[in-house]
Amino acid sequence: MIEVYNWGILGTGSIANQFANDLKLVEKAKIKAVASKTQSRAKSFADQHQVEKAYGTYEALIEDPEVDIVYVATPHDAHQYLSIKALTQGKHVLCEKPIALNRLQALSMIKASQDNKKFFMEAFWTRFNPTFNEVLHKVNIGFIGEVKYVNADFAMNISNYKSRMLNMENGGGSLLDMGVYPVFLAYMLLGKPKDILAKANFADSGADIQTSMVFQYDNAQAVLHSSFVAASNMTATISGSLGRINLHPVWHEAQSYDIIKNNNRVNYAFPTKGKGFTYEIEECHRCINLGMIESDQWSHQNSLDLIGMIDQIRAKIGLVYPDDDQ
Ligand SMILES: NC(=O)c1ccc[n+]([C@@H]2O[C@H](COP(=O)([O-])OP(=O)(O)OC[C@H]3O[C@@H](n4cnc5c(N)ncnc54)[C@H](OP(=O)(O)O)[C@@H]3O)[C@@H](O)[C@H]2O)c1
Repeated sequence: MIEVYNWGILGTGSIANQFANDLKLVEKAKIKAVASKTQSRAKSFADQHQVEKAYGTYEALIEDPEVDIVYVATPHDAHQYLSIKALTQGKHVLCEKPIALNRLQALSMIKASQDNKKFFMEAFWTRFNPTFNEVLHKVNIGFIGEVKYVNADFAMNISNYKSRMLNMENGGGSLLDMGVYPVFLAYMLLGKPKDILAKANFADSGADIQTSMVFQYDNAQAVLHSSFVAASNMTATISGSLGRINLHPVWHEAQSYDIIKNNNRVNYAFPTKGKGFTYEIEECHRCINLGMIESDQWSHQNSLDLIGMIDQIRAKIGLVYPDDDQ
């Protein structure tokens, strides 16, 4: 039985901060080290979160023998390099979504996990959200009949873009940043679609600022959307032959949902521990403790399927990144 899981965090941006707050809520988790491209940023993150070690390069943290698990919280384009580097150095890795820029990169990361026999998971936290899991269970036992329609989006009107969001070098655009969530929902409920239709509008940089998708299945459809330029209610609706379920806003980090069946609406609430990153952290601990190199809840194949669908959408809208062939 492992007594303490020593985490090292790569990056000091917004998600790294939120994640660090939740790490403190998980039993046996310790933030051993943080790394930034800039020593002073690492130091101020370490001061804020009471972290023992602050590194001015990502490589230095990866080489620290006291770090067991590396959390990759940098822009998407660095996910592949840093994950492989850490796995090769004998670390377990939790890597932010999207797992990589494309499926080919993701394959190389999974190979590094297999070759080095170290745990590797995409940080797809919605998979471990208690409300989402209750909804998935209800759907799987047929509570709303056969799922016929899924409607989900992740859309905000962003006035203050972070530099990475529209930068093609960083894998910018709404699809990779936000669109992965509605695609995830359709995938979890209906599987991989038979056909995909997609259209997008673009920023001058070439990054997509809004993308709409239709997933076609033999007996169902999903209508999905991501946007940097117009806000939505951020509710997701799952409509079945016997009823429907609304995941309440913000649905990908839901705290509650309702079911409408036989003209009757019932509300359910499952508040998260912390912001909700606690569950994926606990999943890492569980799997590592059992000697697993992948989660059976969000497996390597699940990540490959998800990024594979994103690749398909990108092909439809003509979104190409400079590092796609790396
Ligand atoms: N799970 C979620 O809910 C969620 C939410 C938001 C984002 N994310 C994912 O997490 C990753 C980071 O997103 P974020 O919103 O935290 O980004 P962010 O606020 O821009 O922070 C990214 C951090 O990465 C480091 N970095 C390294 N190379 C960089 C570069 N070329 N440009 C900018 N920053 C660079 C920087 O830290 P240092 O320079 O200090 O190293 C920066 O603070 C993305 O892949 C994103 O998709 C996940």
